[in-house]
Amino acid sequence: MGTIRHCVVPAAGLGTRFLPATKVLPKEMLPVVDRPVIEWAIEEAMAAGALEMVLVIATGKELIQAHFERQPELEKVLEARGKKAELAAVRHSQDMAHIRYVLQEKPLGLGHAVLCAADVVGDNPFLCMLPDDLSHAEPPVLAQLRKAWDGVQSTVLALMRVSGDEISRYGCATVSESRGRLHRITGVVEKPKPEEAQSDLAIMGRYVLSPGIFDALRRTPAGEGGEIQLTDGIATLLGAGEEVWGLEFEGELLDVGTLDGWLTTNVRLAHELGRAPALRGALG
Ligand code: UTP
Repeated sequence: MGTIRHCVVPAAGLGTRFLPATKVLPKEMLPVVDRPVIEWAIEEAMAAGALEMVLVIATGKELIQAHFERQPELEKVLEARGKKAELAAVRHSQDMAHIRYVLQEKPLGLGHAVLCAADVVGDNPFLCMLPDDLSHAEPPVLAQLRKAWDGVQSTVLALMRVSGDEISRYGCATVSESRGRLHRITGVVEKPKPEEAQSDLAIMGRYVLSPGIFDALRRTPAGEGGEIQLTDGIATLLGAGEEVWGLEFEGELLDVGTLDGWLTTNVRLAHELGRAPALRGALG
């Protein structure tokens, strides 16, 4: 097994929870304060030491690619007008990372999207993150997971405690031994019924995955809705005898994949970053 180089970002989903805004515009291109969601994700991956980004996209999501390409005409205009800060921002997005794109031809689920990155990642462990949540933590959530990986050298998932019936909206982890906030995972179930949930530990969209996940996903049958679930792939990995750990990360993940979450996160971050002074008055 090699070393971590890649961060895989599955971004081929349909974004049905955010229609009609996402009918044409990929949800990853919606702005949070001054930049699209996908830029926040890449910043977090870079902070966790990713050397190469692997964005899994679908047909119709080419705007994501365009955002990270050079826009010479725009640069020329900004240069001529002396708009230095704007020019730096435009150049930053094209220089911020080495990005490869992989096409998921059909929306066959998160597990299938991860599997689409297998050839690029090869036999190496890798970072993986869902851009639907923004890290609001120091160090960022993915960097916390990477540090935990350095200790255990096996798959690490992000865990968050949730209350009551909420666990039914997430993958749920059963754990045994604990080292502080790091727990050894013995079982995972996608969206359990509240009465069947074995714990209050929800699996969140940040992972360090061993390359064994690719074989596990190939052997994982499609579940609900014909989709291959990443959680089911992790269950297959556990069944094959691989160690899986879960880190109760510090800080928060802020939802930007639903209208409610996106609005709340925008208002909160704009306020915290001092980017919308008028909000102070408007919100009382
Ligand atoms: P979601 O479950 O949020 O699905 O996917 P979605 O299609 O993006 O959005 P909704 O639920 O319809 O509103 C979780 C993550 O997995 C990716 C998504 O892009 C998102 O990052 N995904 C999901 C894929 O890349 N391919 C898929 O087939 C499904």
